[in-house]
Amino acid sequence: MNVFAHRGYSGMYPENTMLAFREAEKTGCYGIELDVQLTRDGVVVVIHDETLDRVSDKTGFVRDYTYEELKKVNVAHSWGGKHGFQMIPTFEEYCQWVKHTDLVTNVELKTGVYYYEELEKKTVDLIRQYGLTDRILFSSFNHMSIVKTRELAPEIPVGALVEPLGLGNAGYYCHEHGFQCYHPGFKGLDQETVENCKKYDIAVNVWTINDMGALEQIYEWGCDGAFTNYPGIAQAWLHAKEMKY
Ligand code: G3P
Ligand code: CA
Repeated sequence: MNVFAHRGYSGMYPENTMLAFREAEKTGCYGIELDVQLTRDGVVVVIHDETLDRVSDKTGFVRDYTYEELKKVNVAHSWGGKHGFQMIPTFEEYCQWVKHTDLVTNVELKTGVYYYEELEKKTVDLIRQYGLTDRILFSSFNHMSIVKTRELAPEIPVGALVEPLGLGNAGYYCHEHGFQCYHPGFKGLDQETVENCKKYDIAVNVWTINDMGALEQIYEWGCDGAFTNYPGIAQAWLHAKEMKY
């Protein structure tokens, strides 16, 4: 089973920052999950919410700020000074770093609440520019976005992200639409759905696995991947389970 650091090592460090990505890599995890959006001037940036309010010292929509303006935003603000000032990374900055690692990156296109024009194209262009096509997995709650990335870059696999209740006959759905992976929330997932996906050769990567019970359960079901805020713990458990030392 593959461990993805969800928004980087976000259980211990400010989410979606280069600090959280670097710390995740140190755990030996398989991959990193991150979220991309566009600034007002069309720069692909790594941030989860559509607004700055929850994690930073500023308010308002990401899409209303230029990148120069966003450089001054501290996305470690909610950690109360523990991690100093952390900047919103550009996706290009992330690509420059990750190309020197063995990590696989799950790029979630945040187009389910606001549909950014050209987010898919700009993201694919950067991935190509940095020669990362064989180490990327796209996903989105907006399945039109993954259809679009597949058209732009057919060689990059895609995963259908779904809300916590999940989707009945998910394996068939993904198979019919040419999606290689199914990305359900743990709460709505059961063994029957995992088996349905296996029947159609669809990989199941589950979010967000932050307790041992959930981790053991999806491992027993034979899921392919886990998104977790604690990649260090998940990776250590997996190593012990599989005696991979
Ligand atoms: O991709 C799994 C997970 O990241 C989806 O939910 O809200 O954390 O982006 P969210
Ligand atoms: Ca995400």
